[in-house]
Amino acid sequence: PPKQRLLVVANRLPVSATRRGEGLWQLEMSVGGLVSALLGLKEFDARWIGWAGVNVPDDVGRRTLTHALAQKRCIPVFLDEAMVHQYYNGYCNNILWPLFHYLGLPQEDRLATTRSFQSQFDAYKKANQMFAEVVNQHYEEGDVVWCHDYHLMFLPKCLKEYNNNMKVGWFLHTPFPSSEIHRTLPSRSELLRSVLVADLVGFHTYDYARHFVSACTRILGLEGTPEGVEDQGKLTRVAAFPIGIDSERFIRALELPQVKDHMKELKQRFAGRKVMLGVDRLDMIKGIPQKILAFEKFLEENPHWRDRVVLLQIAVPTRTDVPEYQKLTSQVHEIVGRINGRFGTLTAVPIHHLDRSLDFHALCALYAVTDVALVTSLRDGMNLVSYEFVACQASKKGVLILSEFAGAAQSLGAGAILVNPWNITEVASSISYALDMPADEREKRHQHNFKHVTTHTSQEWAATFVSELNDTIVEAQLRT
Ligand code: UDP
Ligand code: G6P
Repeated sequence: PPKQRLLVVANRLPVSATRRGEGLWQLEMSVGGLVSALLGLKEFDARWIGWAGVNVPDDVGRRTLTHALAQKRCIPVFLDEAMVHQYYNGYCNNILWPLFHYLGLPQEDRLATTRSFQSQFDAYKKANQMFAEVVNQHYEEGDVVWCHDYHLMFLPKCLKEYNNNMKVGWFLHTPFPSSEIHRTLPSRSELLRSVLVADLVGFHTYDYARHFVSACTRILGLEGTPEGVEDQGKLTRVAAFPIGIDSERFIRALELPQVKDHMKELKQRFAGRKVMLGVDRLDMIKGIPQKILAFEKFLEENPHWRDRVVLLQIAVPTRTDVPEYQKLTSQVHEIVGRINGRFGTLTAVPIHHLDRSLDFHALCALYAVTDVALVTSLRDGMNLVSYEFVACQASKKGVLILSEFAGAAQSLGAGAILVNPWNITEVASSISYALDMPADEREKRHQHNFKHVTTHTSQEWAATFVSELNDTIVEAQLRT
């Protein structure tokens, strides 16, 4: 049978573009969980619609970039600088992102915030309308349109205004917070109502789905049912679809000569020391300062480990135009510098902190040689880094220390050591427990995690969501 046609709409395309000349573009893989997860859409005839991460004011640029992206099955949405500032830096990353991760609304200057809030929300709606326009241009009858993430909560409504027969799904890659949190958002109702226009609404965990349904019942006064949310007889199906990774891709990579060479280098470089690893975008939600402070406490309390362990922290720069992210960067640098000054020697430092991203093969090698991975997110929709680490640990069977506030804690809870990232003492003692863990316990915990990660893949996740969407539409037609 022909593959199901799919239009995947997300703010960020899987490739980001950098301009190298008037009509010359360099394309690179974008970093982030959403992009990683959607690489698992191989079973579909999929096209991507989104922003290429670059401002292209001129026609030549737009034409040549559109052409370059077409070879990757990507279709660009062009956002100008002012739009990126208001919609992406402002409403998405300064308002929705922190709020959905329980970090509150921005508070500095309340009045100024309120005023910019309205203009940012207007920009958000306008940006969503621009995405809808591009979708509409490329839509063919029978296509499934799958909208992703907090950037595009307005999109389902815009799409159905173009064409009420479009099959529209929306999936959130972040937590959906308790309705008590969502309630503080000035645009709370409008956002919920536009999401509800979709046929199917998906979340990573059952909790997030439940929070969304209670927001709809408490804030909009609608009826929540086990199936979803009902508004005057129209049902919007709401459900949990926990995401996974393409675990085979990681397992295969470990067999490649260049990855093996890289592992050998790393082993030599850190011979005689246990390797601890953190891999995060440099984001407030990842709890990087908390993680490093816990590591400091661990070193303080365990002098015998001081020259026998190293923490490698890969901190990928992200959203660098948002002031909160700039503040975080200097805060992290300051803490790392202080700890390395305190515990370093002439020849070694305890923390290697890198402000950069790694390519896929380097990342796999690093995952494979790690003894203890540290994921300390204060909140995290799922956290794919924890899955990827597990996939690469078949021979080493290292330990995963995982925040209980990451969605992944619900699936890897039996194998990982779960911690409250705010409790520095608890994280510090977990580090010590993990480093000393006997081989049989490590083996047992690893098997738990490995089984989950290899049986709950991103391919399956996508297939389940799309087939549920198709079923939902058939059922709705039967009801009318
Ligand atoms: N990642 C990457 N290069 C890096 C570091 C991370 O491609 O140098 C990828 C990583 O493999 C993972 C994603 O970025 O797939 C991060 O996803 P996660 O769900 O952990 O967090 P998010 O960034 O979405 O908040
Ligand atoms: C998270 C979000 C994604 C986003 C990614 C990277 O995974 O859920 O939607 O793409 O972070 O952030 P960025 O702002 O660079 O797209």
